[in-house]
Amino acid sequence: MASRSCLFIFLLLLAFQSSVIKANTVAVLPPQCRPIVAGTLARFEYLVNLIIGYAEFFLRSSTGAGIEDIAPGLVQGPVPIGATVANLDNATRAAIREFGLALVGNLRAIVDETLLRAPLSRPQLNFTAGVFAGILNLSGLTPPFNVYGSTTQFLLVAEPLTSSLLQFYLAQVTPSIAGNDQQQLAAGIGLTAAAQAGYFRTRLNAIVNSPVPPYTMTVANFTNTTATAVNQLGLCGVKNEGLIVPLSLGAENRTTTNVVPGDVNSLSPRRTEREVLRIVFGTRNATRPGGIFLSFNGALFRQLVALRQS
Ligand SMILES: *[C@@H]1O[C@H](CO)[C@@H](O)[C@H](O)[C@H]1NC(C)=O
Ligand SMILES: *[C@@H]1O[C@H](CO)[C@@H](O)[C@H](O)[C@H]1NC(C)=O
Ligand SMILES: *[C@@H]1O[C@H](CO)[C@@H](O)[C@H](O)[C@H]1NC(C)=O
Ligand SMILES: *[C@@H]1O[C@H](CO)[C@@H](O)[C@H](O)[C@H]1NC(C)=O
Ligand SMILES: *[C@@H]1O[C@H](CO)[C@@H](O)[C@H](O)[C@H]1NC(C)=O
Ligand SMILES: *[C@@H]1O[C@H](CO)[C@@H](O)[C@H](O)[C@H]1NC(C)=O
Ligand SMILES: *[C@@H]1O[C@H](CO)[C@@H](O)[C@H](O)[C@H]1NC(C)=O
Repeated sequence: MASRSCLFIFLLLLAFQSSVIKANTVAVLPPQCRPIVAGTLARFEYLVNLIIGYAEFFLRSSTGAGIEDIAPGLVQGPVPIGATVANLDNATRAAIREFGLALVGNLRAIVDETLLRAPLSRPQLNFTAGVFAGILNLSGLTPPFNVYGSTTQFLLVAEPLTSSLLQFYLAQVTPSIAGNDQQQLAAGIGLTAAAQAGYFRTRLNAIVNSPVPPYTMTVANFTNTTATAVNQLGLCGVKNEGLIVPLSLGAENRTTTNVVPGDVNSLSPRRTEREVLRIVFGTRNATRPGGIFLSFNGALFRQLVALRQS
């Protein structure tokens, strides 16, 4: 009897404690920034859409090949609209191609280690130059901003997109993903994404004070504009940051350089599923596809739509 009531009190304490922890972490987040409840498989299914989108973008922009040319049978679905081989220098083209190939490997790892099976569903993607300019608030420029026009213009688009994706992985690794193998899978994919984002920021930082031809705005100005645009789409505060920032956004408030962005303790910010969708859709609405993704597959997205979690 005694041990039973002990157990009861213990469970009660546990319940109380976990509700306190929950209240502390959830209460400070506005409703549109709260993580959603979803199973591990649904999370990987969601992620597959994004990885396919980035893989196709990198492969098609660097060489014109698609995932099906690299790994026949791995994906199935509509061919992306507006894909264009970018005007890149050779070294950058090789790196972008490598990143695309790496993401194909990441997709295969997901097929190997989760219950998701090939062919994975490819969403309808729109890689028209105007889509990227619209999402990043660069539509007003004359001549029109063209992601495919030069190496620097391509880096300026790839940087904010990969930074947002990286922030998403971090939010997934713990405790949303259940199971050691699956956590390691998510962490491994996320670290690869982190290195890719670091590459883009490093490349841009090397020319941070140079104007981006044919414009007079510098690389620093562009990264500030694109980060601001992404943050406004995400609806959850300043998470993307420019390469030159006010001291208040720099590490320890002591520097205006910002090669690797972070929060007040230089920790990487996190983005939820809904924030990422608001950004890649370009609609500020996680249930209204548009922008790069004209459709989105999987149970998690259907759940967001059904529950009107925009
Ligand atoms: C770039 O690659 C192309 C095609 O492989 C080659 O013809 C050209 O010489 C290379 N340019 C430089 C600067 O290496
Ligand atoms: C793709 O994006 C371009 C540029 O924003 C847009 O004009 C076009 O309508 C889009 N295509 C589809 C099928 O939505
Ligand atoms: C562009 O950057 C320069 C130097 O970093 C800064 O003085 C200026 O305010 C920026 N302009 C805009 C429009 O961001
Ligand atoms: C978009 O850029 C224009 C300048 O080109 C600026 O006035 C406006 O505030 C920006 N909007 C957002 C949402 O960042
Ligand atoms: C953009 O630059 C302005 C002016 O320096 C600064 O206040 C703002 O924090 C910067 N935003 C981002 C997202 O880097
Ligand atoms: C940096 O400034 C912010 C306010 O802008 C403050 O919250 C933070 O504690 C400061 N960090 C350090 C290390 O002084
Ligand atoms: C988000 O988009 C959905 C579908 O288009 C629409 O029904 C809903 O009203 C939108 N939500 C907001 C807050 O605009």
